Amino acid sequence: MERVIIRGVGSCMPECILPNADLEGMVDTTSEWIVMRTGIESRRICLDTEMASDLGCEAARKALENANISTCDIDLIIVATVTPDMRFPATACIIQKKLGCVDIPCFDVNAVCSGFIYALDVARNFLLNNSKMKNILVIGTEKMSSIVNWEDRSTCVLFGDGAGAVVLSRDMEENSDAGILDVLIGADGSLGHLLHCPIYGSTGPVGVGSTEKDEYFIKMEGREVFKEAIKRMCAVAGDVLQRNGLTIDDINCVIPHQANMRITSAIADRMGIPQEKMLINLQHTGNTSAASIPIAMNEAIQNGKIQSDDLVLTVAFGAGMTWGAALIRWK
Ligand SMILES: CC(C)(COP(=O)(O)OP(=O)(O)OC[C@H]1O[C@@H](n2cnc3c(N)ncnc32)[C@H](O)[C@@H]1OP(=O)(O)O)[C@@H](O)C(=O)NCCC(=O)NCCS
Repeated sequence: MERVIIRGVGSCMPECILPNADLEGMVDTTSEWIVMRTGIESRRICLDTEMASDLGCEAARKALENANISTCDIDLIIVATVTPDMRFPATACIIQKKLGCVDIPCFDVNAVCSGFIYALDVARNFLLNNSKMKNILVIGTEKMSSIVNWEDRSTCVLFGDGAGAVVLSRDMEENSDAGILDVLIGADGSLGHLLHCPIYGSTGPVGVGSTEKDEYFIKMEGREVFKEAIKRMCAVAGDVLQRNGLTIDDINCVIPHQANMRITSAIADRMGIPQEKMLINLQHTGNTSAASIPIAMNEAIQNGKIQSDDLVLTVAFGAGMTWGAALIRWK
């Protein structure tokens, strides 16, 4: 049976570190408040000249190296991002040019913080249904600092920049059960107002009407998002386990979207996941939206926290509202 495996993983973080202490000088907050309410200690921030495509391209290069394949072997590039370099062309096309993979299809996916899992599902289906494709680059890359209101203390402490990438490949090895076993995604557009960034699309062209400055930035009803995140991530993770005849005890490790330590702890409590099985790195990344899962995945591999044959559950939640979960038998 044909299966799709994660053949290589890579990530790229901007050099510049923004610790909580520096935010104390920018808005009315304290490092203690941020750590206590979110678990975040610092985040990485791009330079003005550094774009989401630069981070994504570097993460992709590392994933290709890790997979031991070249840019010529890639059949499709999918980029999950909510901070594209520009409205168009797609960031996937910009990365294609930088990587030099000519003529292959490229497109972006916008499912905000669930974007990586959405893109993983799309890529997996391409590989299972299109025999001409063998390897797909899936990249999550974000420059969240470009849409954060640095005067709004309730949001600016949460987000960070970064990129992660995976190479997905068809695997024909016999007698193997490795690969992406299942992906489940969902959305509820009626909750879109809880977390949104109004002025990017056709609702509010720049320079027209009486656009308020804060309309350009992330707007969030934090408490409601907090509750929805826990509810939806527990539900989708439970559903993907159930439809595969598994329980949480069968899982070796969980990679949740890295939004807030109180959210990930509540999920662990509700689902009965021991804390040591939760792979958390948000302390030094903040919420990097679509990039958070591949960044955490890469870090876990580097630290030996994911081993061959491990059953990995990854689960995300984001604006939309969107959610998703994937079950992966690691190879
Ligand atoms: C944003 C979040 C950390 C706020 O924590 P909270 O416990 O819900 O705090 P509240 O919003 O109820 O605010 C409590 C108080 O802290 C204040 N506060 C908010 N941000 C603050 C900050 N950075 N520093 C100090 N005080 C702050 C609020 O103004 C409020 O003050 P008040 O009681 O005088 O009105 C939390 O709601 C959250 O994490 N939500 C989910 C966000 C998220 O993950 N989004 C992305 C999903 S993909």
